[in-house]
Amino acid sequence: MQTKIVKILYTAKDYVSGQEISNRLGVSRQAVNKAVKVLRDKGFVISSVTNKGYLLESFPEQLCEEAVKCLLDTKLIGSKIIVLDSVTSTNDYLKKLAAKGAQAGTVVVSREQTAGKGRLGRIWQTKKDDGIALSILLRPQLSPNEIGGITPLAGLAVCRAINDFCKLDSRIKWPNDIIVGKKKIVGILTEMSTDFDRVEYIIPGIGINVGHTTFPDNIAYKATSILLETGRHIDKNKFLATVLNYLDDAMLQNNYTLGGQSAEDYQKLCASIGRQVSFCRGDRKISGMAVSVNDSGELEVMLSNGTVATVNSGEVTVQGIY
Ligand code: BTN
Repeated sequence: MQTKIVKILYTAKDYVSGQEISNRLGVSRQAVNKAVKVLRDKGFVISSVTNKGYLLESFPEQLCEEAVKCLLDTKLIGSKIIVLDSVTSTNDYLKKLAAKGAQAGTVVVSREQTAGKGRLGRIWQTKKDDGIALSILLRPQLSPNEIGGITPLAGLAVCRAINDFCKLDSRIKWPNDIIVGKKKIVGILTEMSTDFDRVEYIIPGIGINVGHTTFPDNIAYKATSILLETGRHIDKNKFLATVLNYLDDAMLQNNYTLGGQSAEDYQKLCASIGRQVSFCRGDRKISGMAVSVNDSGELEVMLSNGTVATVNSGEVTVQGIY
């Protein structure tokens, strides 16, 4: 009911009487008053004037389920949104829910992670309110060898959301970093559970640097945030809704696979392509020119002997970036 009230007030953009809300929702005036009080406690600024009703003045500063839901235009992603104050890792939290049968589209977002995970066993720090840590539960009807497009599609969606909402020119550093200039602003860690030839679930976990002004010494040279790049504090709820809207579009319109237009779009936004890159094969370091990303999401690298190597995981250093 609270989400419905926020939606009514948000779309009205003017005062709406308590009576009208109670008629539209089929609940008592008292129930409306009570729900408005809960919303105010959550940080919504809702003014009320006798004989006019309620007016939504602003959303909470903190992440809030009702605020995000009110702005969602998705078919699947965000069907359920769980907002946490603090958690070890949103991926780990959602994996537990997934194992218990949580519905596809469930999103877990947290203001803080105490044991956030990065790729290749690294740590991903999310200090309170500096970043947004979110994980999305997907259950595509695909076999394990068909899911290579999911992380690139997630990267594409988040990159678009940042560019649209923050008016930045972010790009993708293959496979799943989003960068602004030469610095990382988003990291993605996708985890999954498979059962022989069936994917049980896939969880792309996305860490977005929002309000950081400093970073730990070991990453300071290659990390940035929305605040540092734009000089502005963004409305986190509106931004998160934008990210989820783009993710829903990217996953559903492309049936979770990279190909055709989405592959072209990914390549256009991929900063690694057309640059010298290095990666490791066993204990050999190999260098070459990144030429494309194939429909399985693998990076194709032209080596000096004219052969093309495909890279599907691990660390790739891009000359001039990191
Ligand atoms: C990387 O660049 O190494 C990937 C970082 C992924 C971080 C996100 S934050 C939300 C989700 N939960 C985690 O524990 N990790 C991912």
